[in-house]
Amino acid sequence: MRQWVDKLRKERTLRPEEFRQLLTECDGELLRYINEQAQEVSLRHFGNRIFIRGLIEVSNCCRNNCYYCGIRKGNPNLERYRLTAESILDCCKQGYELGFRTFVLQGGEDPVLTDERIESIVSAIHRNYPDCAITLSLGEKPREAYERFFQAGANRYLLRHETYDKSHYRQLHPEGMSCGRRLQCLQDLKEIGYQTGTGIMVGSPGQTVEHLIQDILFIEQLRPEMIGIGPFLPHRDTPFAQSPCGTVEQTILLLSIFRLMHPSALIPATTALATLTPDGRERGILAGANVVMPNLSPQEERKKYNLYNNKASLGAESAEGLRILQQQLENIGYQISFDRGDYKQ
Ligand code: 5AD
Repeated sequence: MRQWVDKLRKERTLRPEEFRQLLTECDGELLRYINEQAQEVSLRHFGNRIFIRGLIEVSNCCRNNCYYCGIRKGNPNLERYRLTAESILDCCKQGYELGFRTFVLQGGEDPVLTDERIESIVSAIHRNYPDCAITLSLGEKPREAYERFFQAGANRYLLRHETYDKSHYRQLHPEGMSCGRRLQCLQDLKEIGYQTGTGIMVGSPGQTVEHLIQDILFIEQLRPEMIGIGPFLPHRDTPFAQSPCGTVEQTILLLSIFRLMHPSALIPATTALATLTPDGRERGILAGANVVMPNLSPQEERKKYNLYNNKASLGAESAEGLRILQQQLENIGYQISFDRGDYKQ
């Protein structure tokens, strides 16, 4: 089986049946091997530097009702909030002083956050912090909206496709949401010129190895600049409350597969992985991740942005915890990079 790992590193792809074998028959020893190989590729490309992104969760209001997500419209047990433009700019100010040069504005698909409002917030950040990158993660919008945000100064956009399989997509999302529409959005983002991120939850309900192979091949075709891979974690107020978590092992296996296939991609060690296990961030980095996204949201709102239960937001997950993060990274031989960390081929 090591031959598939070596082949993957050299040729950057495998045949579907080779992927299948890697995904179904990977034992602890092989997992260590692929993690090492992926870490080596990441070190070659990025050195021992980990990029940081300041995550600002701008709204937990959402018009969608995704079965896995804690901020779904149908969850009544959630205090909804929406940050004002002033509050968002204040987060950026604090983040800038801490050394962040990328701000990620993430939120539900909140109808009150109109295209005009988003455009004006992006403009204001761009005006105040011209040396910073602006990443948006605000869901599906018409192409015109993406174009306006880009014109206003946004550089990057995160939109996980969640699953490439149409019927699995329907298992995760209610009527009215479509996989095709999602993929169209990703196409639009790429064409407009965004550094575009996509990805999946590992171990989402109904996910099979065949689905994962389709996801791998889709991402290979799309060639996104960023790839977000985290475990599915259940939220008590969703239809998937009783579903099991994704595993650490499968998450870091996929992380390593994506690193070997996409040596220059920006791949975060996700908050979900750090929530699943206390050493999740470190294990992600040691499997090939090169980005972390500490939380810059106002303290009072953090607990309300619950995509899943027990979401980590303390210590190294928080922007104020950069020193703790620095220490954790040093312990495994890495350092924070305070650069913008744009995608480079
Ligand atoms: N577990 C893990 N990840 C989740 N997300 C949403 N809900 C969950 C959950 N229960 C992820 C989705 C989304 C990203 C912002 O958060 O993949 O794209």
